[in-house]
Amino acid sequence: MSKQHDIVASQVNEYDEDVVVNPSSNPHFDDILAARLSRRVALKGGISTTAAALLGGSILSACGGSDDPAPTPAPAPPPAPAALKIGFNAVAKNKNDLVTVPDGYNVSILHAVGDPMHFGDLSWQDDGSESADSYNRRIGDGHDGMYWFGLSDAGAYQADRSDRGLLAVNHEYVVAPYVLHPAGRAAGATRNATEVEKEIYAHGVSIVEVKRDGGNTTMVRGSRYNRRVTSATTMDFTGPARGNAQLATLFSTGATQTRGTNNNCANGYTPWGTYLTCEENYLNVISRAAGDDAQRSAKEIASLNRYGLPQNRKSPYLWETAGSTDLYARWNSSVTGAAATADYRNTINTFGWVVEIDPFAPDSTPAKRTALGRFNHEGAWPAPAVAGKPIVIYMGDDSRNEYIYKFVSKANWDAADVGKGMAAGAKYLDEGTLYVARFNADGSGDWLELSYGKNGLDATNAAYAFADQGDVLINARLAADKLGATKMDRPEWGAVHPTNAEVYMTLTNNSNRVANTATPTGSQLKPDAANPRYYEDIKGGTTSQKGNPNGHIIRWRESATDVTKLNWDIYLFGAESTAAADVNLSSLTDVNDFSSPDGLFFDKRGMLWIQTDDGAYTDVTNCMMLAAIPGKVGDGGKANAAGGTSTIAGAKATADTVRRFLVGPKECEITGIAMTPDNKTLFFNVQHPGEDSTPDFAAKTFGSYWPASQSDATAKKRPRSATVVITRKDNGDIGV
Ligand code: FEO
Ligand code: CA
Ligand code: CA
Repeated sequence: MSKQHDIVASQVNEYDEDVVVNPSSNPHFDDILAARLSRRVALKGGISTTAAALLGGSILSACGGSDDPAPTPAPAPPPAPAALKIGFNAVAKNKNDLVTVPDGYNVSILHAVGDPMHFGDLSWQDDGSESADSYNRRIGDGHDGMYWFGLSDAGAYQADRSDRGLLAVNHEYVVAPYVLHPAGRAAGATRNATEVEKEIYAHGVSIVEVKRDGGNTTMVRGSRYNRRVTSATTMDFTGPARGNAQLATLFSTGATQTRGTNNNCANGYTPWGTYLTCEENYLNVISRAAGDDAQRSAKEIASLNRYGLPQNRKSPYLWETAGSTDLYARWNSSVTGAAATADYRNTINTFGWVVEIDPFAPDSTPAKRTALGRFNHEGAWPAPAVAGKPIVIYMGDDSRNEYIYKFVSKANWDAADVGKGMAAGAKYLDEGTLYVARFNADGSGDWLELSYGKNGLDATNAAYAFADQGDVLINARLAADKLGATKMDRPEWGAVHPTNAEVYMTLTNNSNRVANTATPTGSQLKPDAANPRYYEDIKGGTTSQKGNPNGHIIRWRESATDVTKLNWDIYLFGAESTAAADVNLSSLTDVNDFSSPDGLFFDKRGMLWIQTDDGAYTDVTNCMMLAAIPGKVGDGGKANAAGGTSTIAGAKATADTVRRFLVGPKECEITGIAMTPDNKTLFFNVQHPGEDSTPDFAAKTFGSYWPASQSDATAKKRPRSATVVITRKDNGDIGV
């Protein structure tokens, strides 16, 4: 979701990721540095023994043949990253209402919001006339994270298959111009029930079968695998918080189930072939009544405030106002009954989880895996699985001043579990250890364990008395505060290098940093080594934004011997190419300058794809996607960032290591990426084209006419979020 939401006048703004709800007084970097000088760790080049072991093993391995329902073997190890070379001409920054790709590439649309996935529903009418119920069978809105699962002839996971697969796509939110409705969202403090029902079904996830036939890649309408998971779908709670009283509702008095996954931003996937979808800005749809604090315990109030839901807070979507039936009333997270089992006071606690879905089993029940903690989950990115070692998943909490986490499974990876769906998920994701990151100024880092009874996470904790591990997971932010984790500049996507296992994570921007010389007030923070820049973005002679407007990408290498240790540097700094050298620390030029990195993805070759969701460089260019061939942690050195804070920067970028691959249409965000394993078909998502303009539905005047504009410059059709297919005209590999 974009950082800026200039919605139609009279309508409430979207939940703003910039809202700060972290009031903890975690130590500043100077204090950490002083405490840690005695165990300073030097950055060293080379590959760790863990990574070396990975190089010798395949990322996914499996049993069975292609004619067998069992999964098929993974492909041979990819070529060494050193063989990779970017091989396209950089696309120029532009503000066209088009997806602009390099010469020699094709663009087509796989699906857009409202497209029917089955037979029996009319195709998109461009007038909002589709029924609410039909969105249980149509592509949802706000395309975001996604993943490609190869599908064997027999219907099993086939990791190396490229011409047939299941594409799982998140539908993050209902885009502000409300193209779903006949004439936008009806004004008023009470929502129209039909509109709300349509919005509930337009959120969530779509899974569709995709086939590639010659040069055409299309959705298989009517496939038995085509499925919608929405904000009303029944799902299980699993893991340590299952059954916890804080998850009890009228719907599930035993706290074992709930309905819906919401505001699914980025994603993940598992080595056994399931999809992970991550709940981020669920505050879009959850309200809390005035005076509710009087009905709550001190612990409940501390939790509600830390998760951004103070009393008397109305959600932007106001779903709870559309009617008194359960479909609508449950979005009011307030005390209305005699007990938590008689109302929906705990709705807030039923969101903010990582949800596992088995795309190969359309009737399976999705699971909220509570062992991975509750926060504004951007996504969940697995390290390459290694036989006999735990599954490791990296995660970020996308709000200003929030944290980076990792989950380490108790069970060790066994490739025989490929294809075992939700049962494998239960094995690896319901028991394990959650950690939160502290990035020290000397380039070392610590993973701090979020386990009940350790590190003061018990009833003695002054800010919040933890009762058990379920309580720690439901209130992971409060636990991370206690441990002194590092507050980051809005963690967005992560990606793990397929061969050396180094982890990259975008930090999209933070307007809440203040100058090193300033005295922070409220939630403001001074820069620190891992979030080092403070500067003013001057446009037309006046300050447009300040803090860290352009964002950066941190990366780290895990210790080969200690699960609690890492070494980090800053791989890349977003900047305008004309910015001062201490802002443009990666020396970006016209062929690769960008702002506000968000989506991030490593393909199997080790090419890194960087996507932007920007509000700072949009006077010059629409959002974009770049290809990169990164080095490794420690390939740069010490640097002084704008504002005077010392940091550790990666090697400077060149046209050979970072290059702009495409630019999107007007007022969009580029997000979500998947690649077939043969590297010949790339999918990415255009989210919310035309979002910043006030639409005129009668005159059909919009801020963007994409995707219709891609083939017809005079088209006057509604802007729609969509999945785009990129191929090479000569059928070659993408990017090289
Ligand atoms: Fe939905 Fe954090 O972007
Ligand atoms: Ca974003
Ligand atoms: Ca995002």
